[in-house]
Amino acid sequence: MNEVLRIAVQKSGRLSEDSLKLIKECGIRFDSGAGKLKTAASNFPAEILFLRDDDIPGYVEDGVAHIGIVGENVSVETNREVDTVHRLGFSKCRLSIGIPRGVPYTSIHDLDGKSIATSYPRLLGTYLAENGVSAQIHEISGSVEIAPSIGLAEAVCDIVSSGSTLLSNGLQEVEVIFRSEAVMIASRNLNGTQQNLLDQLLFRIKSVQTAKN
Ligand code: PRP
Ligand code: ZN
Ligand code: MG
Repeated sequence: MNEVLRIAVQKSGRLSEDSLKLIKECGIRFDSGAGKLKTAASNFPAEILFLRDDDIPGYVEDGVAHIGIVGENVSVETNREVDTVHRLGFSKCRLSIGIPRGVPYTSIHDLDGKSIATSYPRLLGTYLAENGVSAQIHEISGSVEIAPSIGLAEAVCDIVSSGSTLLSNGLQEVEVIFRSEAVMIASRNLNGTQQNLLDQLLFRIKSVQTAKN
């Protein structure tokens, strides 16, 4: 069991498709049947675990998964003891503050005394503190963009990719607080075999990236 590299990827979401594509481009074959939460590669000593992205850094810290592909936003927010071993260049997005369209905005200080809904309390808290803004952070785990329209908060801080979620919820992006892309994270307690398999995988990933540039 310890002779296999366990790779955690997002079960479904913005990173899923490109994560699996990258593994396939590395020549690793596996069967990803619908609803399967774990699959073994047929031509490389690896297993792929399909998890919620927010849970991936914790599993990697614990060594349950040896490596994981996750958004840097999630990795930084969860603040687990893992190593970022490679930047993957896909799933680029930004963590931004949005307010209702039409509300005037001149600077971050407009948020003083306001409430902000987010799933990223750590990243947001750091940014507000750095800018000397005191706002109330409402932590919610999803559908953050609904908050202003139901009176839960005056602003939101969430991931923006195409911008369509903000747009369709009547919000405007007023501040970018973090820029993110997919990264590969690794456990700090890999044994020799696992480290060797990770090195082989990283070598293949770098070759794939070079070929594309
Ligand atoms: C983010 C965010 C928005 C959406 C924004 O979710 O929470 O819902 O993406 O994308 P858009 O600008 O292209 O509309 P994410 O994919 O990170 O999923 P999760 O929060 O459910 O993990
Ligand atoms: Zn998530
Ligand atoms: Mg979301």
